[in-house]
Amino acid sequence: MNGIFYFSSTGNSLYIAQELKKRIGGQMRYIPKYDGSGEEFDKLYIVSPVYSFGLPKHVYELMPKLDKTKELVVILNYGGMAGGADYFCYKYAAELGLNIKSVFILKMPENFTVTFTVPKFYLKGVLKKSYKRINKVLTDVESGKHSLPKKRKTHDETYLKNKSNWHLIGKRFSVTDKCVRCGKCVSLCPANNIALIDGKIEFDDKCVACLGCYHRCPQKAIVYLNKSKKDRYVNPNINESDIGADFDETESE
Ligand SMILES: Cc1cc2nc3c(=O)[nH]c(=O)nc-3n(C[C@H](O)[C@H](O)[C@H](O)COP(=O)(O)O)c2cc1C
Ligand code: SF4
Ligand code: SF4
Repeated sequence: MNGIFYFSSTGNSLYIAQELKKRIGGQMRYIPKYDGSGEEFDKLYIVSPVYSFGLPKHVYELMPKLDKTKELVVILNYGGMAGGADYFCYKYAAELGLNIKSVFILKMPENFTVTFTVPKFYLKGVLKKSYKRINKVLTDVESGKHSLPKKRKTHDETYLKNKSNWHLIGKRFSVTDKCVRCGKCVSLCPANNIALIDGKIEFDDKCVACLGCYHRCPQKAIVYLNKSKKDRYVNPNINESDIGADFDETESE
């Protein structure tokens, strides 16, 4: 049985993981909820976005716990500039002694859009082109083809510095009077960083910078540094409520 581990806040990685499951079968596990080593699976797969030229905190923290005897394949996706994240991930996995067989990487629509606006037509174009890339990567994975990234410059220091500052991001969010106190942001946050206290949404200092709350609030009531930006992103090929879910072998997405 294949174990497909994924992290996703706006659905790009969920979409790739679901397409992977259609090809190779297996069970899907949402990394923030997972507390094992993958020993119950025959082969391990990780599908993750690139964060700051590296990996989201939950993915970075899962990898040292993984069963070193199991083959591991990683599929990364990034929005604009990967900065050697595939080699960074390979290096990290090898240092941990994991049985890393492949690290694939492909471009998907950018979701770090709190400080700048990506034109809609551009995002649509990236998404359209991504299907071919996803198909190529998944065909390679399905056929068992191994692909390790060539040695290249990575940005380890920038990554580690940014990662150590992600907890501050939550404190830069505020909630406008459009909030209807539905509690969705509270339940979707992978870091338990949001609470509804006395009818008000409050952010703690455990943020992992995923931006899930920002993009998926149904009222667009969460704003960053008080900027009134309108655009939000969720991958159109998934059910948004599936982000964060686990799927067993027989469950269809
Ligand atoms: C905190 C954060 C950091 C990011 N850093 C990078 C980056 O260094 N390079 C890049 O190209 N995209 C970066 N992105 C964009 C995501 O990797 C990309 O949009 C990804 O497809 C999102 O996947 P998801 O929809 O599964 O969450 C970042 C996104 C976030 C939220
Ligand atoms: S998801 Fe949006 S509307 Fe719902 S409680 Fe959170 S901020 Fe308010
Ligand atoms: S507060 Fe928002 S951005 Fe931070 S971890 Fe939670 S959902 Fe993600």
